[in-house]
Amino acid sequence: MKICVVGTGYVGLVTAVTLAAKRHEVVCVDIDKEKVDRINRAETPIFEEQLPELLKSTVNAKTLSATTDLKTAIQNAEICIVCVGTPSLPNGDIDLTQVEGAAKQIGEALKEKKGFLSIVFRSTVTPGTTENIFSAVLQAFSGKKPREHFSICYSPEFLREGRAIKDALAPDKLVIGREDTIAANNWKMVSSVGCPIIETDFKTAELIKYANNAFLATKISFANELGNLAKSIGINSYAVADAIGFDPRIGKQYLRAGLGFGGSCFPKDIKALVAFAKKNNYEPKILSAVLKTNDSQVERFVHLAEKKAGSLSGKKIAVLGTAFKEGTDDIRESQAIKVIGLLLSKGAKVCAYDPKAIESTKKELGNKIEYAGSIQDCLKDAELCLICTEWPEFRIIDFSGMKNKVVIDGKHILEKKNGIDYEGLCW
Ligand code: UDX
Repeated sequence: MKICVVGTGYVGLVTAVTLAAKRHEVVCVDIDKEKVDRINRAETPIFEEQLPELLKSTVNAKTLSATTDLKTAIQNAEICIVCVGTPSLPNGDIDLTQVEGAAKQIGEALKEKKGFLSIVFRSTVTPGTTENIFSAVLQAFSGKKPREHFSICYSPEFLREGRAIKDALAPDKLVIGREDTIAANNWKMVSSVGCPIIETDFKTAELIKYANNAFLATKISFANELGNLAKSIGINSYAVADAIGFDPRIGKQYLRAGLGFGGSCFPKDIKALVAFAKKNNYEPKILSAVLKTNDSQVERFVHLAEKKAGSLSGKKIAVLGTAFKEGTDDIRESQAIKVIGLLLSKGAKVCAYDPKAIESTKKELGNKIEYAGSIQDCLKDAELCLICTEWPEFRIIDFSGMKNKVVIDGKHILEKKNGIDYEGLCW
């Protein structure tokens, strides 16, 4: 099939390369010319396992290319997949600017398009958005009606950063919201890989995506609440979490207590869902508590640092890990960045090290902190070490270069604790 993918973030680009690898003809569209040029040179603009190899093979095989010219891409496409961002507004509400922009541009392009277009809308949006915003704007700007010239289905993605290719190639389910079945059938044809397919209406599909993320975030905040309680009575909550994980109704995943969740999805999606619920006259007490618990983990971590090392003012503090999780260079909503902000507000001198996220951290924090090229450089003469991201290389560390070997572990990652004054945030 001839496919165009609008938006080349980690969802759009991963969707594009995995479809191009299946020998579909895929054109990526983005407003960012620099990004478009990098894709055409087979240089991946984001850090994702397997993405460099897949990008190289599909660009060389000419099944994948990129352009800023959405109109032409739409003229030639049979399927258009929309993967634009839906960030948070300052009040936590969802920002639909990019969704409306994409709908307008696709609508404009549809005016002159000959032939039918199946549209697969993938952005995470609150219930009602596909129908009342995306489809309505598309119809207004194209002057065309669904079924005659185009069809829309809504199909959210469940990709985890750092393992997005794996999740795209082996999803646990395919969720499709649709009114008519034309786009839905075309999307099933190109994307289904034998996993269960849930076909439903637009709003149910939109809420399934939020519910999926909200439940995972709730598990993490539950693990943190359990961890905070267990620590206050001298119990290691990991032993408790491991044990309850044997209950198939609970499961072992997403029960790792610590600094809490960050990333470009959980924080924004839970905030958007809370704001959406309130707009619909419902007070989501549990989800509000999930966010509050998550935020409090940052304060608890720095409070523990002060308890262990006294006043932080003027002290060199080594921060190991700034990415929101291991396996990515992404620092969006990273708890580590929030920890650094709090340390700086208390007058600490921060030196940070991260295997992949130093460049993105420099863009965010500039010369407010020092940056180390290695763990040892970061630890040199430090009076305190805070572990903030669960990178595997933080499992075994030589702390001999520190002035005071005080280590607080926010991610339960350090395995060798002899010869240091060690404390875990939740254990
Ligand atoms: C998440 C969802 O998993 C994915 O399905 C959705 O499409 C996008 O959002 P992602 O944000 O990439 O994916 O990361 P994920 O691996 O889910 O971790 C999210 C955060 O939770 C990270 O900060 C991680 O460190 C934290 N986490 C995860 C915990 O604190 N404890 C856990 O047990 C698991």
